Amino acid sequence: MAQQNYLWMDGKFVRSVDAKVHILTHSLQYGSGIFEGIRCYNTDNGPAIFRLKDHAKRFFNTAKIYRMPLKISISELEAACIGTINKNHLKSAYIRPFAFYKEPGIGFNVSGKTTSVAIAAIEFGPLFGEGQKGIKCMVSSWNRINSTILPAGAKASGNYINSILASQEANAAGYDEAILMSSSGTVAEGPGENIFIVQDNILITPPKSANILLGITRDSIIKIAENIGLQVVERDIRREELYTSDEAFFSGTAAELTPIISIDSRQIANGRQGPVTKMLRDRYAAIVRGEDKEFSNWLTFTKG
Ligand SMILES: Cc1ncc(COP(=O)(O)O)c(C=O)c1O
Repeated sequence: MAQQNYLWMDGKFVRSVDAKVHILTHSLQYGSGIFEGIRCYNTDNGPAIFRLKDHAKRFFNTAKIYRMPLKISISELEAACIGTINKNHLKSAYIRPFAFYKEPGIGFNVSGKTTSVAIAAIEFGPLFGEGQKGIKCMVSSWNRINSTILPAGAKASGNYINSILASQEANAAGYDEAILMSSSGTVAEGPGENIFIVQDNILITPPKSANILLGITRDSIIKIAENIGLQVVERDIRREELYTSDEAFFSGTAAELTPIISIDSRQIANGRQGPVTKMLRDRYAAIVRGEDKEFSNWLTFTKG
């Protein structure tokens, strides 16, 4: 991260090197922070943040689920994201709003503790590298959290310990990424991505009941697919359906659309990006860069 990078913090811009917290910060010790991941893309009309309002809404929903009082309104959060892009003169970026209990102390009770909101924006390329080569995945021995244990639909820091375990396991075994099953034994999602398979030209993705995070990219893909007349089905996916799918891909703000070319060493789509994946991926890339007028209401221009 560049030295001059500025964070937005509780209403002010501070140099990221000057933004310091105590080592006993509650959210650092107990994972009680909440966050979002948003991308901003360069377009002919300047930088544009993709689906900012939807990300801001999910951030506030996560705060509500975790009873976290935020001293900021949803429109102030949106304005602060735009401001952070402009303050850092970024054209494209990954934006990370983060709310946390910053008071130091021992003990996990948060009642009466104050919260802080910080927003970082940094340059960030493709999560799994350039190109359409695709990634190799394994089904993890760790199941995805479920809502009887932790709110699977919330984007809270502590939830990601589960994702970290699954990714670590996959990487240690020589795979690029993990796929987690739900506790009921159906396919859930990646550690930080939703999953789609293509079977006989039908796009299939696990439903909310599989304890997935309802991804904003997932929602975008479903709407794009419906727009081009591709049938989309949200239903439970059995593990073996992953192996016999015609195509598979991950979706996510960081991962964008990432082709999956093998799962548990079974090759998918002849080890290449499949045609449906390519079509959706190209369309998504055009939309986020403002080259497709159909979904232009998903973009918030920072110079607007
Ligand atoms: C667990 C998990 N699933 C799915 C996603 C994809 O969500 P989105 O498309 O909103 O980035 C993410 C990323 O935020 C995630 O962390």
